[in-house]
Formats: sequence, structure tokens, C-alpha cells
Amino acid sequence: MSSVIETDEQAATRPERRPTGRSVLMCRPEHFSVVYRINPWMNPAEPTDTGLALEQWQTLYETYLALGHDVQLIDPIDGLPDMVYAANGGFVVDGIAYGAKFAHVERRPEGPAYMQWFRDAGFDVRVPREINEGEGDFLLVGDMILAGTGFRSDSLSHEELSGIFGREVVTLRLIDPSFYHLDTAIAVLDATPGQEHIAYLPSAFDGASLAFLQQRYPDAIIVNETDAAVLGLNSFSDGYHVVIASRATDFERQLREHGYHPVGVDLSELLLGGGGVKCCTLELRR
Ligand code: ARG
Repeated sequence: MSSVIETDEQAATRPERRPTGRSVLMCRPEHFSVVYRINPWMNPAEPTDTGLALEQWQTLYETYLALGHDVQLIDPIDGLPDMVYAANGGFVVDGIAYGAKFAHVERRPEGPAYMQWFRDAGFDVRVPREINEGEGDFLLVGDMILAGTGFRSDSLSHEELSGIFGREVVTLRLIDPSFYHLDTAIAVLDATPGQEHIAYLPSAFDGASLAFLQQRYPDAIIVNETDAAVLGLNSFSDGYHVVIASRATDFERQLREHGYHPVGVDLSELLLGGGGVKCCTLELRR
């Protein structure tokens, strides 16, 4: 297994961590609440506080601005309480926006709403044929797309994806219902081709997927169950600053050891819907 703690030699040879400015799309949680249950985190009987969700979300928004990122906003729609999880709204690379087609009927109307936003923003929109939940399940790492399946995105969408983007797509199978989207089980820390670096939760994957991750990313950070359980992996990295759940303390320590600068935020209210930092963030790559 790969070493969790970096040796001096690894530290000396690792690439210098550099931040690059990003453009992201977010959605204010004005209509956030938990009124249905489509993942194990959600419990409609437990009350949610929309005001607190807005406050916590605002902190994340301001954190991105302070880090120099460009943040675009899509208007929230009444009746779509999960729309705050913008990562599921599509997958955007090379100016092409592959639209989402949600697995659950409760979220289905979000697909067209996000596609309209992409069109208005000048992206080349591809209407999806297959069920997929966007960047929740698709992660760009180097030139490759890691694509999750098992709970939400259909593996047929992985073929559609490779046809649209002309990139290698690797299917990873998720097996733990608490980590139902790929972005809850893998964090992309550095997507730069040639110096790809990720963090992940091994128990979230089936045997073949785990074997692939171990072989392909031998220097990955292995995150423990405690940090994964506060959705610590659901983080956003610009190559140097990593915005993470402030309760993911061991992951934070490991990030520092690997030369990153973790920035903790508390999204406890949005965790009640089963989402964290990354879920609220969709990267727009022109
Ligand atoms: N309640 C939402 C759902 O179950 C949460 C989505 C989280 N998004 C993510 N990218 N992991 O669909």
C-alpha cells in the first residue's frame, strides 16, 4: 500500500504546489430543505435551517472570491431544494457542457435548468441521452476522466462521455451508499497532466476499481473513515489551496504534509442533504 506519510525524499521530489485561478458555478441555497430521501444522509423528519444553510454557503462563496476564483451564480428555483449542489448540474470541459440527467425524479428538472444556464453563458451544450449526475460522478484528472457508477450515473453515460470529450474514461464502481457520488469518495488535488494527485477512501470502491486507483496513483493520500464521514473528501483544490470540511482534521494534516494549504469551512447544514464543499461547486473549464 502507498505510504500515507511522505518521506523526506518524496517531499524533495514532489512538484511544487501552485494555485491556478478557477471559474466555478454555484447556486444559493434559498430553497434548501430536506423533503425527500435519496441518499442515507437525508432525513426529512429532521428539521433544516435554511438561514443557516445560506450563511454557511455564503462563507464558501466568499472563500472562493478571497482565493481569487471567478464565481458564477445560477438562480435557485423554488421546489428544487437540492439545486444548491451545483456539481450535479453537468460536466464542463473545453467549453463543452455535457448536461445532467438525474437518476431520481425529484431532481430531474434541474438538468434542463442548468443546461439553459450553460447555453446562456455561451457553452456548447450536449443534451444527455444517458442517466448521469455531472461532476458529482465525473472527475477530470490529467487528460483522463474518472467516472463513477453504482448509485447514480449509469455506466452507459461513461461511453457517451468519452464520445463527447474524446478522452479516456475510466469507470469506477462505488459500493457504499453513503458515498454515492464519486466526489464524495475521491478528491482531485492536482489535475495537472504529469503531476496528477488525488485523495480517496478505499472502502468506497469495489476490488477492481480500488486496484486501478492503487496502481495508477501510488502516492495518493488515503483518507480515513472518520474524515470521509464528514464528507472531507468532498473538497475543492486549486492546486495549492484545498477548501475542505473543517471537521476533517486528519485529512487536513495530511494535506499540509503534502505541501497543500487547507482552508476549512463548515457546511454542517448542507451535510444534512448529503453534500459538502465540492457538491456546491461546479468547475467551468473553457
Ligand atoms: N441531496 C443531493 C442528492 O442526493 C446531494 C447531492 C450531493 N452532490 C454531490 N456532488 N455529491 O442528490
